[in-house]
Amino acid sequence: MQHLPGRHFLQIPGPTNTPLPVLAAIAKPTIDHRGPEFGELGLEVLKGIRSIFKTTNPVIIYPCSGTGAWEAALLNTLSPGDNILMFETGWFSTLWSKMTAALNLKAEIVKGDWRSGVDANEIEARLRQDKEHKFKAVAVVHNETSTGVASNIAAVRKAIDRAGHPALLLVDTISSLGSIDYRHDEWGVDVTVGGSQKGLMLPPGLAFNAISDKAIAASKKSKFPRSFFGWEDMLTANKTGFFPYTPSTNLLQGLKVALDMMQTEGLEEIFSRHNRAAAATRRAVQHWGFEIQCRNETEYSSSLTAVRLPEGHSADALRKEILARANMSLGNGLGPLADRVFRIGHLGDFNNVSVLGTLSGVEMGLKARGIPFRSGGVEAAMDVLAGNSPPATRAA
Ligand SMILES: Cc1ncc(COP(=O)(O)O)c(C=O)c1O
Repeated sequence: MQHLPGRHFLQIPGPTNTPLPVLAAIAKPTIDHRGPEFGELGLEVLKGIRSIFKTTNPVIIYPCSGTGAWEAALLNTLSPGDNILMFETGWFSTLWSKMTAALNLKAEIVKGDWRSGVDANEIEARLRQDKEHKFKAVAVVHNETSTGVASNIAAVRKAIDRAGHPALLLVDTISSLGSIDYRHDEWGVDVTVGGSQKGLMLPPGLAFNAISDKAIAASKKSKFPRSFFGWEDMLTANKTGFFPYTPSTNLLQGLKVALDMMQTEGLEEIFSRHNRAAAATRRAVQHWGFEIQCRNETEYSSSLTAVRLPEGHSADALRKEILARANMSLGNGLGPLADRVFRIGHLGDFNNVSVLGTLSGVEMGLKARGIPFRSGGVEAAMDVLAGNSPPATRAA
């Protein structure tokens, strides 16, 4: 493989760039996962991760990707044949609903346009109609990574409460956790699903279930057979910092350092940094004259921006050109958005200069591909980052 000079710009919306101190911690020798040193590490990360979800309840850490944590959320709280209400926000909400079918759950899916977030009023209306309370859960994606749309989870909670419905609330925060404000306890979420490879700045390989008391009570009645994903054995072992099977020891070493880094920077400052990067990116995109996939300003994602190219131009050819010229990876369009949009990731470990470098790479690619655009987007973004231009709003 030919070495490309300079650092690779990994600007897909996850996995994200892993900072050197985290990589160094992962590279430390593997320790005995049944020894005292691991027990301390386990207790520390199991406690520290709670603050990222803004919960005082347990958070389960699985050695798997986010898809496993989706499955765990369903298997632990529901029973075969149960009904679940889901909202189609894009590719990832669709994959989650496909999983429910494979598990013999009956999902009712509220159709979406892949440009907007969850409509809480529609959720309320469907739940009001459900007089017999057949829906056992409502499952939504907080930040739809395929479209760059962030839904208002507090509004979904309020909709469920207004309808007086007992359904559990399950939320996917895989591309928002540690990047966009999220409050598991305050928003009354029952299971929050997360992953290590995005806002937490780790490689892929850890996935999370933050769980409410109501979710734990539901898990005691759930009739799904489960073994690897069962919460009960995990919760018992986790009390002393251990796991019922071999954990991802080295990734947990990395998680400890990532949590320290996040605590030092401060969650609220991390969210502001993401908001600024997103605002600067949108300013550049709008200056270039392109449409943002997200329709509603209040739903703009702070962790990624999906950009629509004008008709007749290939987003994949543009990404290919940028990879070759700038050694930079951008996210592809997924499902019906394939080749139509490209996605700029601005989450995890980055600073203002990384954002400007990313936007410069895009601008260079647009020029090289002969795609008509108004030049000067990077300059416009610089104004936002330098504080000379008010940033655009985004969802609370
Ligand atoms: C919002 C969202 N949900 C779920 C997933 C699936 O997670 P994984 O690929 O880690 O299994 C992803 C992956 O990018 C995602 O962005």
